[in-house]
Amino acid sequence: MKVKGALMRRAKISVIGAGNIGGECARSIAMKELGDVVLLDIPNKDKPELHMPKGKALDLACCGPVENFDSRLTGTFDYADIKDSDVVIVTAGVPRKPGQSRDDLVAINAGIVKSVAENIKKYAPNAIVIVVSNPLDAMVYVMWKVTGFPANRVMGQAGALDVARYKTFLAMELGVSVEDIQGLLLGGHGDDMVPLPRLTSVNGIPIQDLLPAANIQACVERAKVGGGEVVKLMGTSAWYAPSAGTVEMVESIVRDKKRVIPCAAWCENEFGVKGMNDGKGLFVGVPCVLGSNGVEKVITFNMNDEEAKSMRESISHVKDLIGATVKLFPELK
Ligand code: APR
Repeated sequence: MKVKGALMRRAKISVIGAGNIGGECARSIAMKELGDVVLLDIPNKDKPELHMPKGKALDLACCGPVENFDSRLTGTFDYADIKDSDVVIVTAGVPRKPGQSRDDLVAINAGIVKSVAENIKKYAPNAIVIVVSNPLDAMVYVMWKVTGFPANRVMGQAGALDVARYKTFLAMELGVSVEDIQGLLLGGHGDDMVPLPRLTSVNGIPIQDLLPAANIQACVERAKVGGGEVVKLMGTSAWYAPSAGTVEMVESIVRDKKRVIPCAAWCENEFGVKGMNDGKGLFVGVPCVLGSNGVEKVITFNMNDEEAKSMRESISHVKDLIGATVKLFPELK
């Protein structure tokens, strides 16, 4: 992070929710030396003698000599420790249980994200916030509404993960390196994603020239339910790939890389959002340029009829999800 009067200082990156995703985010941020990390969680009511975030931070700090990193790691229950963070990752919440839909999570996680947002507003008013808690598209809205931050400083991690899953399954199908797959997705998280095989390639070679349509579709479908597949296997939701997607976003922001990554970002006229949401904007999954100012640009392009139809459906589901959230928490209207 470039700072006036100093050549460079370390970025301060706080992770709210030091569970599976939060812990893995902290590990990856330290390994990449993207900055110093504060891990914040809540006390365990049944075992008040424990301090899980402090324990995780200590364990991670001891990887430093082996992995050669100098990132400082702090574990805390106290929001004062996130003071003046440059980036805040929010994973606080309850993970999806087997058979539970993302919508069922709204009531629990919106309350949690609301309280987290109030504290970010108070202690880290200049931070760029990346929301990971599900149901993602609604939780980003809650964060934006409660902090009152400009929309370029609030975004959700979903597309980075969904596109990683899509590329992984294509690479498995093709027997080529994941590094050589280019692809893009739009729309809401998971089931609501809008795949774009038309814009998918292996180093520029259209995917349609390399795989039958049915095989491409199978990869799309598997990516859509990729989260559910892991839940069925592990009994709880994934954490390695969600963390990898989140840290990819953090890296682009703190290193001002201007990567183009699909994120849940505020859209007004882009992709026809306003016309579908009673003249208002919405947070939806779209390709974004991520740099030191957060979402620096939403990249638009011409969709074909089929893609535009899927995008409309996705936007309408996001709209319904926000409607359900506002019904439970009318103050968020
Ligand atoms: N403030 C801070 N942390 C909280 C709060 C709160 N109010 N409420 C819960 N937490 C913490 C929990 O104590 C837990 O340590 O959030 C952490 C969540 O971690 P996990 O249960 O391990 O869940 P994880 O798999 O990391 O998923 C986190 O991301 O993808 C989404 O659906 C997923 O919403 C879930 C979130």
